[in-house]
Amino acid sequence: MAVLPIRRLPKPTLRKKAKKVSSIDGSIQRLIDDMIETLQQASGVGLAATQVGVPLRVIVLQMPEEEPIVIINPQIVRRAGEQAVTEGCLSVPGYFGEIKRSASVTVKGLDRHGKPIRMKGTDLMAEAIEHEIDHLNGVLYIDHLESPDKLHKTEASTTRETESAADEKGG
Ligand code: NI
Repeated sequence: MAVLPIRRLPKPTLRKKAKKVSSIDGSIQRLIDDMIETLQQASGVGLAATQVGVPLRVIVLQMPEEEPIVIINPQIVRRAGEQAVTEGCLSVPGYFGEIKRSASVTVKGLDRHGKPIRMKGTDLMAEAIEHEIDHLNGVLYIDHLESPDKLHKTEASTTRETESAADEKGG
């Protein structure tokens, strides 16, 4: 396992649409292991393969105090409600923004063994699922800002960036 460098804006790879994984082979397993290690080292709650420069549809999610969840070729099949969130991104360090996300989402895809999975996420998990799948489509949370004054710089003392601003939520 290895900690991979996280690509930051304005890297073009962050704006490209990722391709579906067609075969879950050894290189995908290694990518997943590396993404989990990278996410944990960065203390984030989610990471998309595009953020480590790999244009494939793989995301990892990890809520505080929980085991990592891997979803290959994730697809949101249901969204419900709305929540106002304060969100950050490991690829956009130094900033956070106020945006809206679905309050709950149901996502389906494959686990790392190729087995179909389907799960429902609410609150921070719903936010993280939408955020990471956005990454696979070349979309960043800053694209969802209703106006530029909803984007803020983090305090100079806040050096540790967190995906989905877990810090701001106290999570
Ligand atoms: Ni992000």
